[in-house]
Amino acid sequence: MQLTTPLDMHLHLRDGEMLDNIAKCSASTFSGAIIMPNLVPPVRTKEEVVAYKERIMKAIGDERFTPYMTLFFKPSYDKVFLESVRDEITAIKLYPAGITTNSEGGVSGFDVEELRPALEAMSELDIPLCVHGETNGFVMDREAEFVSIYEKLASAFPKLKIIMEHITTKESVEVLDKFENLYATITLHHLLITLDDVAGGMLKPHLFCKPIAKRPEDREALLKIALEAHPKVMFGSDSAPHPKHAKESCGCAAGVFTAPIALQVLAELFENKNASLENLQAFISGNAQKIYALSPLAKTVTLEKKSVTVPSDYNGVVPMYADEKIAYSIKEIKNG
Ligand code: NCD
Ligand code: ZN
Repeated sequence: MQLTTPLDMHLHLRDGEMLDNIAKCSASTFSGAIIMPNLVPPVRTKEEVVAYKERIMKAIGDERFTPYMTLFFKPSYDKVFLESVRDEITAIKLYPAGITTNSEGGVSGFDVEELRPALEAMSELDIPLCVHGETNGFVMDREAEFVSIYEKLASAFPKLKIIMEHITTKESVEVLDKFENLYATITLHHLLITLDDVAGGMLKPHLFCKPIAKRPEDREALLKIALEAHPKVMFGSDSAPHPKHAKESCGCAAGVFTAPIALQVLAELFENKNASLENLQAFISGNAQKIYALSPLAKTVTLEKKSVTVPSDYNGVVPMYADEKIAYSIKEIKNG
C-alpha cells in the first residue's frame, strides 16, 4: 500500500530535549505538519515563531519535512502585526484559557466584539483560525457546549476559515456542514477509542487526552466522516508527547503520543472498515492540501502488511499501542 505526501494537520513537537527526541518520529514519515504553539511561554511573536521553526529544522536533520508554523492567538493581534508575520505562519491557534496543556494565556469569554479586530484582520489576510473547542463545563459536555461558540464565530466572520481541532463528538460532526467556513481535524485515537478504553477498566494514562474520548456513538460519527473522507475533514494526530513519568503519575498530563504509529494504524483501520485507499489518501493529505492551499514536498510511503510490535517507548515517551502488535509496518519512504 502506498500513501503519498502525508500531512499531520495538528502536531505537538515541543521544544528542547523533547523536540530533539521525537521530531523525527513525524518528520520521517510525514511531508509536513501544522505545529502547535503551546510551548512555555507560548509562541506569540514573529521572532519566537522564526526561532522555533529553526529549532525544528535542526531537530529533523536531513528529513524532508515542512513545519507549518502557528502562533498562539491573542485578541490584541492587529492587522499591522499580522501582515508582518503572515509569511512565517500557516494558521493561528486559539485556546480557551486553561483548558489544556500550556493554555493558561488563552481566551476567556468569547465576546465577538472583543475578538473582531483580530479575526477580521485574519480573514482579510486569509489566515485560518484553528480552535481548541471546549468550554470549562463538565468534562464530557465541554465540546458539545462549545458548538454554539463555533456557530457564533462562523456566522460573525463568514470569510474566516475556522478549523475545529480534534473533534470528538457527534455534535461537532453535525455543525460542520451548517457553515461553509467550518472545517475539522480528527485524531487517530478518537477514531479508535471511547472513554471505556481510558477509564472503563484499569485506568490507562497513555490514552488520557483533551478532549477526553467520548461515547461509542460519537466515535461512530467521527468514523463515518473520516472513512468517507468528507472534504472538510483532515487528519490531525494531536500527537502530544509527555515524558513517561508525567503520564504515569498521580496528576497525569493529557496527551496521546501517536506520531510513530499513525500511518500504519490508519492503514489498518481503513482496511478493516473496508474504506478505499483513495479515501485514506484524501483524509491523510488531499483534503488538507485543498483546505489550506498547500503544495507540500512530495513523499511516498510504502506500507506492508507485516505485523510488528510497537516499541515500549521512544526516548522515554510511551506511544499508543506500546508493546502491542500492529498489522502494518513501513517498508520504504521515498522522496518524490
Ligand atoms: C495537548 C498537549 O499536551 O499539548 N494535549 C492533549 O491532550 N491533546 C494539548 C491539546 O491539544 O489539547
Ligand atoms: Zn493538540
